[in-house]
Amino acid sequence: MSLGLIPQEIIEQVKDRTDILDVVSGYVTLSKAGQNFKGLCPFHSEKTPSFMVSPSRQIFHCFGCGTGGNAFTFVMKMEGTSFPETIRELARKAGIAVPEAAPGFRPAQDTGNREKLETLNEAAQAWFMHNLTQAEAGRDARLYLKERGMFEDTLEAFGFGYAPESWDGLLKHLLKNGYTLPDLLAGGLITTKDGAGRNPKDASGYYDKFRARVMFPIRDLRKKVIGFGGRILGEGMPKYLNSPETPLFSKGRALYLLEKAREAAGKTDTVIIVEGYFDAIALHQAGITNVVATLGTALTPDHIRTIRRYVTKVVLLFDPDEAGVRAALRTLDLFVDSGLGVKVVSLPSGDDPDTFIRNQGTEVFAQMQEKAPSLLDFAVEHSLKRAGSTVIEDRIRSVDEILRILQKTSNRLEKEECTKRVAERLGVNQQRLIERYPELRPREMRQARRDAPVSVPSAGARFKGTPEERDLVHLLLQGQLLPAEVRRLEAETFSMPACKLIVEIALRTLDEGRVSVRATLDEALADVACATVATELSMLDQPYDDVRQHVTDCLGRLERKKLEGALGRLITQLRVAEQEGRTDEAQRLNDEVNALRLQKSGRATVSSAPSA
Ligand code: UTP
Ligand code: MN
Repeated sequence: MSLGLIPQEIIEQVKDRTDILDVVSGYVTLSKAGQNFKGLCPFHSEKTPSFMVSPSRQIFHCFGCGTGGNAFTFVMKMEGTSFPETIRELARKAGIAVPEAAPGFRPAQDTGNREKLETLNEAAQAWFMHNLTQAEAGRDARLYLKERGMFEDTLEAFGFGYAPESWDGLLKHLLKNGYTLPDLLAGGLITTKDGAGRNPKDASGYYDKFRARVMFPIRDLRKKVIGFGGRILGEGMPKYLNSPETPLFSKGRALYLLEKAREAAGKTDTVIIVEGYFDAIALHQAGITNVVATLGTALTPDHIRTIRRYVTKVVLLFDPDEAGVRAALRTLDLFVDSGLGVKVVSLPSGDDPDTFIRNQGTEVFAQMQEKAPSLLDFAVEHSLKRAGSTVIEDRIRSVDEILRILQKTSNRLEKEECTKRVAERLGVNQQRLIERYPELRPREMRQARRDAPVSVPSAGARFKGTPEERDLVHLLLQGQLLPAEVRRLEAETFSMPACKLIVEIALRTLDEGRVSVRATLDEALADVACATVATELSMLDQPYDDVRQHVTDCLGRLERKKLEGALGRLITQLRVAEQEGRTDEAQRLNDEVNALRLQKSGRATVSSAPSA
């Protein structure tokens, strides 16, 4: 969904007239806590409040689960609405008129179309469900579902239906109820024998798309039916049919049962992804409710974006066959820079999630999930197994594909962790891998390691940099840095990608010598990669005795680290040059090292001046 749909000035107006306190109060009971308000977090379950709202900054942050953002993000997360939907809703509440979609972006009648399709789908859904309850007509389908282990109340809870054998049962039913052939075609409920165009006034030649199938309604987060899946009773081809792409439905975007899984996913910070309708339902039915299914497609970047709104952890539960393994491996590329922690649960061969959960129960499943390897380990393990060689070169070559993907990671810490991990699994020195893939080279690794991370490293979106970066970004977002101090910040000296981004934004928005906290925060919040770190650091409650002195110290430490890093790299190059007998180059590097050492000791005297 694009921002282009609603003019920027309208978005600004809505932002100006929406108060985060009003918005959040609609969902959470808040009480005053200093300058802020606090309450029980609606995104995870807790007994003592760690959810904070700042009216002055118009942001919220939960120090328990790490979720944070502004009024827009809050509503999007609570309601599962898209950005434009959220703006429209908040605009309506604020009494601001939002013009229809920009011309050429989407047909103007589209909203009307969507509503019409929604009611059409509801009508079809009601008919499918009705068929299933019919004593005679629905018997085979009910029997089938029973054989598949579906409980009686599951049928209703998941809206199971039945499309009978006949060619035009649904078609006749819907025409009788005032829908037209073009409606049914647009909804993907009917097709023509040969796909050719026909007279849309004459129903002959059109027939129901779903026949003799058990029907699964696919819903969006507002619980509206956006499409259907249908499984043949018993054997037959194709085994599953899905609705075609319609204005409401896209296989590459929809996730089956997300509307049911969202809450449990938020609470556990985890979403489990399976491949089949029955797999998803079987897990829900067994009480594991943070499960969604893809709809006969591989995971897409759209899926990942959706998932990232709710969780930081993903569990992939693919079929144990070769196809399932390949599907898991393909996702490495998708997940590598997503900030999501991904595990892979492999079921014993012969089982799919559906049969597994019914035979083994939730306890066993929970243990498997606990022990499951990360996607990276899974990928490496599998590649090694396939290569089946003990020769180091072969082993390295077998993970070529994985290393190529890892190289692309922009998150430095993640890249380091992963390289280390792969080296361990291969039983080789990290250096070996880096020689082959120079992009994997860690930068300023020794420095980053020396300072213990200040925060829990598990949640992807939380702050996990050094104390210097924390304090500098914290003061920056609180508007306590002077322009001259902001100008001394260098994005590359920050280890966390989120902090790098925030610093870049601050430098870019530095306006005629003024630090623009609002603009910086706004832009940071719009970027998923740094939004929650921005809210976290912005709301940190951290007093300093002498802010100016502290800032000078932090800046000094960052600059020294940068020098030390550069020095370390030069010394390595120098050693290699010496070993390989390149004397001229060694001499040049030696001079550079000495110059840097001088510079560093100069700095050291300045920044080690006694401080209070
Ligand atoms: P599978 O073929 O792995 O079957 O399809 P399954 O889920 O185990 O099905 P059952 O247990 O035999 O009923 C996995 C998913 O792939 C899509 C469907 O979404 C299905 O749930 N699929 C499969 C199709 O879209 N078309 C097909 O013909 C087959
Ligand atoms: Mn199955």
